[in-house]
Parts: sequence; structure tokens; C-alpha cells
Amino acid sequence: QEDVFKKLISHAKEYGFIFPSSEIYDGLSAIYDYGQNGAELKSNIKQYWWKAMVQMNENIVGIDSAIFMHPTIWKASGHVDAFNDPLIDNKDSKKRFRADVLLEDYCAKLEEKAQKEIEKAAKRFGDAFDKNEFETTNGRVIEYREKQKTILSRMAKSLENEDLADVKALIEELEIADPDTGSKNWTDVRQFNLMFGTKLGASADSATDLYLRPETAQGIFVNFLNVQKTSRHKLPFGIAQIGKAFRNEIVARQFIFRMREFEQMEMQFFVPPGTELSFYEEWKQKRLNWHLALGLGADNYKFHDHEKLAHYANAAADIEFKFPFGFKELEGIHSRTDFDLKAHEKFSGRKLQYFDSERNENYIPYVVETSVGLDRLFLAIFSNSLKEEVLDDGSERTVLSLPPALAPVKAAILPLMKKDGLAEYGEKIFNDLKFDFNMIYEDKDSIGKRYRRQDAIGTPFCITIDHDTLTDHTVTLRDRDTMQQERVPVADLRRIIDEKTNF
Ligand code: GAP
Repeated sequence: QEDVFKKLISHAKEYGFIFPSSEIYDGLSAIYDYGQNGAELKSNIKQYWWKAMVQMNENIVGIDSAIFMHPTIWKASGHVDAFNDPLIDNKDSKKRFRADVLLEDYCAKLEEKAQKEIEKAAKRFGDAFDKNEFETTNGRVIEYREKQKTILSRMAKSLENEDLADVKALIEELEIADPDTGSKNWTDVRQFNLMFGTKLGASADSATDLYLRPETAQGIFVNFLNVQKTSRHKLPFGIAQIGKAFRNEIVARQFIFRMREFEQMEMQFFVPPGTELSFYEEWKQKRLNWHLALGLGADNYKFHDHEKLAHYANAAADIEFKFPFGFKELEGIHSRTDFDLKAHEKFSGRKLQYFDSERNENYIPYVVETSVGLDRLFLAIFSNSLKEEVLDDGSERTVLSLPPALAPVKAAILPLMKKDGLAEYGEKIFNDLKFDFNMIYEDKDSIGKRYRRQDAIGTPFCITIDHDTLTDHTVTLRDRDTMQQERVPVADLRRIIDEKTNF
């Protein structure tokens, strides 16, 4: 698994998808830059989300609010007081860890042990092996699972009560060690606020302390009435936004899964009080269906309903995706009640009420939120698409079988050779199609090498121009996934590419 993940990171770099930020200065931890192909893929994912959210829903509009916001917003939202992670320092290694992540890692190890027991038994019993029966009756597997449950529920309780001493006791009881050095020598657990601070204003005395927003949602809440009044939408209606968010994550691991600067695609759906839970169920299903439509495989998704709810929520679930390091949160769907709007009303002193003409009453709307990390979604799509294939002739190829609509490059124009007018013909095709598709023109290297490079960045079509093209105006069209080649008229290219790569 680790190898698969390493391969993925190096592929992302080698083919211009993701570079470590500031690399020539040895990088900056948990910050990444998107290269030429990464930027295209990311922009296509954004478009896919925006179209499904804003364009296809008559009652959802999109906005783009500023990253800097009035500092009191973060007081009202609870981020100043409660956006903390429990932090623990290892005395020996001088490294910092998130206490809850250490405990979760420990649970993952227990799960690994349970799986090993199951595999061993499957080998022992062969055809007679019944997985379900084994899991419910085998003492050791039951013990591992029970232990996991106890740890997770104790951790959830102590975090909720901010009982950091209990988190520490749990780490000591289990003799959890620093994953790098094995040292068990910890100092106290303390809370660490995840927001990045900065200053607005030139002189030190008059400067105002600001935060880089840790979520885009608050930009939607504070604009709720502006948008409602100017769009004239009645409830229920939604406001969507794509934008950067910043969190000073303590352990930022797993590549672009947990970053310090990342992008969110969020939508707040404003509904009359009392109707929120049915909208919550509806959005859970709609969002899962949206993910499934990408075609990455239904088995790779599951819901995780939260037992422990944040203070502002009356229901919450994650859509988890099977990343190379296991099932992890991809998107959150939260029924946030009227918590945020009510808090902004209190802190700003402005009324944020909506007049419902059917009910003939004023009220603060309830909110159902869907929030997906763009970079996390990028990682889900990228990791699921990267494949090593052994071909019929025994040779191998690396192919990135991205959903064609998301592929950074839709077609590569490849004249077999530069001379005899093939290059000029290729350029003509390129110029003719460039208004509709992002493409690459390449006339160097052998055609086999050029095909492989396009496979590696996920280009759905390769168009080869040869001597016959000059007289019969047909080209060879190679399909990325089947590697089948067919002869098609140049005049049909636009239609064929469009059919396959349109959203
Ligand atoms: N407005 C709600 C909110 O921000 P969240 O669960 O904290 O909720 C929503 O974040 C989504 O944002 C997550 O499901 C995840 O996909 C993404 N996300 C959160 N922190 C992230 C990080 N440090 N790096 C990358 N993506 C992150």
C-alpha cells in the first residue's frame, strides 16, 4: 500500500500534476502546487461540481466571497473558541502529533491485526471458510474490534468534554509510541487553534488581527440576505461557493489529503425550520449519486453517520472514499440548524430573518450544508485512475484512466513525422479544434513513446496524421482505454471527441 502511494506521488510530480510547493527551497510542509496537468484536472473537477450544483439546480446560485473577513465572524462561528485540535509533544523527538490521530492510527493497527487473523484462517480452512462466522466467533478478532470501539468512544467523549487529561491517560495506558522513533515519552496534551492569523493595516498600533478563513461557509452565511434579496429566491434555496481555505494542521500527512492551504466546494441550503432533516436525507443521497456518476466504482464509497455531533449540528454524515490508505472522509453533509445565522445576528446586531409569505412569519432559516474538499476529490479521482497494465504482448503500460470529461488534455495531435506536410496538417487540425478542446501537439519521439506519455496523463484520444491523411483526409484515432485504433474522417473529429468528453 505504501508503495502504491509513493508511486502515485511520484507520478503526480513526473507528469506535471502536483509539485511540492517552493521545491527549490526544499519545500513547505503540507503545501503543494498544481502543475500544468493538475491545474487543468482541478479546473475540470470544479466545473463538474459547479454545473451540477448551480447550473442544474434552478434554486441554487453561486458566489465568490473574500478570503479575508471581519474578525468577529470567527468569534460568532465558534472558530476562535472551539476550532482546536488536541496536540501532544514527544519529549524525545521534539515532534508534535495530534492526539486523536495517534489514537486513530493505533485503531488502524488493531484492524490490521484483525484482518491478518482473518486471512490466516481463510488459508487454513480453505473452501470451508465463512468470513462472517469467523469474525463473530473468533476470540482474537472480537478482542481487537472491541478494543477499537472502546478507544474511539472514550476518545470522542474526552474530546467533546475537552478532557485532555483523559486523552493523555488513554495514550499512556495503551503505551502508544512516536511513530518515527518509538519513544513513549510525552508531555501534556493541549489545545491548539487551527486558524492562521495575519494583520491588516500598516502601523503596529492600528493594525487589526485577521484570520485566513478556515472554511468558505461563513462567506455564504454573512451574505445570506444580500443573495436572497437580490436573487429573489424563496426558501428552500441554496448558495454555493468554491474557494481556498486555510488550516494550520498539526500533522499534515498523506500528500494532498490534509493540507494547510486547500480548496473547498461548499453549498448551504436554506430551509424552513422543521424541514431540515428531510432535506438533509435528500442531500446525502444526491451528493452520493453525484460521486457515483464519476464512475469510480460504487464499492469505493460509504456513508459514515456521526454519532458525536458538533454543537451546531442535529445530524451529520461523511461520504467516505477508499483512498490508498483506507476509507477516509471525502465530503461532509451537515444539518447545521440555525446556529450560524443566529450567531451572526447576535454578534452583528443585524436582523438575518426571512419572511415566509406562506407561513406568514419571520424566522431564521435552518441550513443543510454539503462540503467537499476539492484537493481530496482530486486525490480520490487520481488515485483511483492510476493503473499499471500488463498488455497482451507482455509489455507494461501506466495509464491514468480518468473520467474523459475531467481529463486535462482531451486529444493529442501526433503527426507520424514532421516532414512531407504532415506537421502542417496536424497544426491545421489543432487550430481547428482548439476553441473546443484543450489539446497537445507533439511531433517528436517515436509514436509508441508519444502514446505512452498521453496514457500517463490520461488523454482519452490520440490523433495520428500519416501520409494517407494528405489524400483521403482521414486520421487514426486511438482510444486510451481500449488502445483500439480506427480510421476516421477529419471532419468527424469534433463530434467524436465531444461525445466522449462532454460532461
Ligand atoms: N464548512 C464545513 C467544513 O468545513 P470540514 O469537515 O471541516 O467541514 C469539509 O471540511 C471538507 O473539506 C472535508 O470533508 C475535506 O474534504 C475538506 N478538508 C478539510 N480539511 C482539509 C485539509 N486540511 N486538507 C484538505 N482538505 C480538507
